[in-house]
Amino acid sequence: MRKLIAGNWKMNGLISSQAEIEALRGLTGEATCDIVVCPPFTLIDRAVERAKDSNLVIGAQDCHAQQSGAHTGDVSAEMLADIGARYVILGHSERRVSYGEDDEIVHAKAVAAHRAGLIAIVCVGETRHERDEGRAIEVVGEQLAESIPEGATGANLIIAYEPVWAIGTGLVPTNKQIEEVHAAIRHMLEEWLGDDGHSVKILYGGSVKASNAAAIFGLRNVDGALVGGASLKASEFAGIISAAF
Ligand code: 13P
Repeated sequence: MRKLIAGNWKMNGLISSQAEIEALRGLTGEATCDIVVCPPFTLIDRAVERAKDSNLVIGAQDCHAQQSGAHTGDVSAEMLADIGARYVILGHSERRVSYGEDDEIVHAKAVAAHRAGLIAIVCVGETRHERDEGRAIEVVGEQLAESIPEGATGANLIIAYEPVWAIGTGLVPTNKQIEEVHAAIRHMLEEWLGDDGHSVKILYGGSVKASNAAAIFGLRNVDGALVGGASLKASEFAGIISAAF
């Protein structure tokens, strides 16, 4: 499967950060993987303009479940599609923790993403405590079972396995731990989606850097990465992109 490397800028980036988009655009010509950047809402429009006529694709970091209405401060999937976003990250652990987003909300947002024609990147992952209790696969399985919408296919759904304890900490699970969880996710997807379950990309996320990317990309059922901190500088992100094959 062709690998996908997605950058999640989180709450980072000003108009001046367009230089990074410009630099990334330059990289996509030769890349052998798909490259997606998800800047904050404020930069999506500009990033889409910058990425025009290149293989760089722009996504968002969240959306509301409703199409429009009295939801102060929110942005709908239709609005994102309207300005040219093609992907949307949903259920990131930072949103689950900070905004109490549960699987039901993530499910509703994934339905909205599909309604608007966006590709949903649904994030799942266990906490340190849950892993220590031996419940990582159980927790991830529950999150998936409750958040994947009807009609999900390899063309409109991506799963990102992001252990909460590995995000922004420099800690990375062992190769065996990553392979175990990715294999379990693949198995569940095949069970629920049939043939489509083979083609849903499963990304790994959590402290991916240029120095560990090649080893992670070599693992079974790892179809790319969702990268936070190391996606903010195009030069660093380039090292991760070049490790994908
Ligand atoms: P880091 O790559 O900074 O650990 O963040 C991962 C992440 O949360 C991507 O969504």
